[in-house]
Amino acid sequence: MTVESHYQQKIIEVFKKADQGHLFKYYETLSAKEQQVLVNQLSTIEDPMKLVKTVSEAIKFSLANSSSGSFTQLPDEQTASTIGLAKDVYNRWSELGYKAIANGEVAILLMAGGQGTRLGSDDPKGCFDIHLPSQKSLFQIQAEKILKIANLTREKFNLDFVPEIVWYIMTSGPTRTSTEAFFKQHNFFGLNKSQIKFFDQGKLPCFDINGEKILLHSKNAICEAPDGNGGLYKSLQNNGILEDMISKGIKHIHMYCVDNSLVKVADPVFLGFAIDKNFDLATKVVRKRDANESVGLIVLNKDTNRPCVIEYSEISKELAEKKDPQDSNKLFLRAANIVNHYYSVDLLARMIPKWISSQEYLPFHIAKKKIPCINLKTDESHKPVEPNGIKLEQFIFDVFPSVELEKFGCLEVDRSDEFSPLKNADGAKNDTPTTCKSDYLARGTNWVKENGGLLENEDDLVEISPLTSYGGEGLEFVKGKTFKNGDVI
Ligand code: UTP
Repeated sequence: MTVESHYQQKIIEVFKKADQGHLFKYYETLSAKEQQVLVNQLSTIEDPMKLVKTVSEAIKFSLANSSSGSFTQLPDEQTASTIGLAKDVYNRWSELGYKAIANGEVAILLMAGGQGTRLGSDDPKGCFDIHLPSQKSLFQIQAEKILKIANLTREKFNLDFVPEIVWYIMTSGPTRTSTEAFFKQHNFFGLNKSQIKFFDQGKLPCFDINGEKILLHSKNAICEAPDGNGGLYKSLQNNGILEDMISKGIKHIHMYCVDNSLVKVADPVFLGFAIDKNFDLATKVVRKRDANESVGLIVLNKDTNRPCVIEYSEISKELAEKKDPQDSNKLFLRAANIVNHYYSVDLLARMIPKWISSQEYLPFHIAKKKIPCINLKTDESHKPVEPNGIKLEQFIFDVFPSVELEKFGCLEVDRSDEFSPLKNADGAKNDTPTTCKSDYLARGTNWVKENGGLLENEDDLVEISPLTSYGGEGLEFVKGKTFKNGDVI
């Protein structure tokens, strides 16, 4: 037996021991090269027995499906709202954020590894054109915001250079190649190639619906999927990103999701809020629309005195509907999670090794999905119409309870200014290309009106380029001018 085939046999044994012998049903019919491909893929799974156990634990955990504890609002010291915020506080935070950018202490971290199954587009979500008059993609909008904020920083401090803000972009197997190609094709949207760093999140095998058997994608490949947004932490460590941040002297990270069409990338006010209050981790939230909105909430677990996220399904109707005793126009628990975070690099360096070493911090959740695979009974490829398998995912916010309460902040922002996600294809009620476009244009049109600009017709909508204005500033020039529907300013 050659060394190579000895190695292959060893891998096969380990998987057979873990009750995964079906993966080799076609092995003898494969060419030597195809056998090698399968074995290579399997060899990336460290401990198949442990993995199978993990899946059954994840299933039990999901059946329990409720967070233990009693939940309340975060204390006032941890929270703030930009809605009605005193001007001097707003300016102080903004100043602190801009200073950190000018000092090269800020980096941006984008999560773009999701497969966007609900949207159903072949390309990664960031490449999506939400049909703005300019036809800009989400990636282009975000890149231009980075260019703009860097230029605003230069102007503010009279710098003789434009600060280069590093943009770390997490992709996954399914999104990496096309994302990188899209950036190249668009010449990195005017950013320097060197300031953009792509890296991949991890992947995990997909299981059958009982969580017992790994699915075969073809005769010599198993089905795999990205490990969820909680895979971010492991991938920061495994790809040397954390090290890169430290070596560059970066202290503050703004992390956000690719699909928020209104995102304020590297928002100085959010950064300043966290810096001023010496938070290690801060979250941006929007106000929950009503008691029935299906959103996760950032809350305090009274039993542990730690922050956490609870899903809408995890709180009672009574608590969901409870009004704030201080203002009966507001819900008591209303801090809707939009997965938009500040992290201190200190926290990441200190905690990532812990977070990724134990399921205590980042448990696996299961998602039942339609997973194309080989049907072992018919030996044919099968595109299911009903969920037939399980994907394993980690959730980014599961680590929140490991952060001390005093080090955790929560900033409420105006939804119409900052949050309109692209989740579903047109035809759905919410979070579609159409709602993103109309929210984007409504915001720009409001800025024009606030600055004394006029519209030909009352209902006209205009687009403001991020290169013209980051957050409504610098638009004095529109005063007295008339714009018409579809204009791009
Ligand atoms: P979603 O949870 O909305 O998932 O992602 P998705 O993949 O975009 O869409 P569906 O659920 O398949 O329809 C929220 C953010 O988390 C990122 C996404 O790219 C998006 O920015 N994400 C999600 C990852 O980076 N990796 C993942 O494994 C999952």
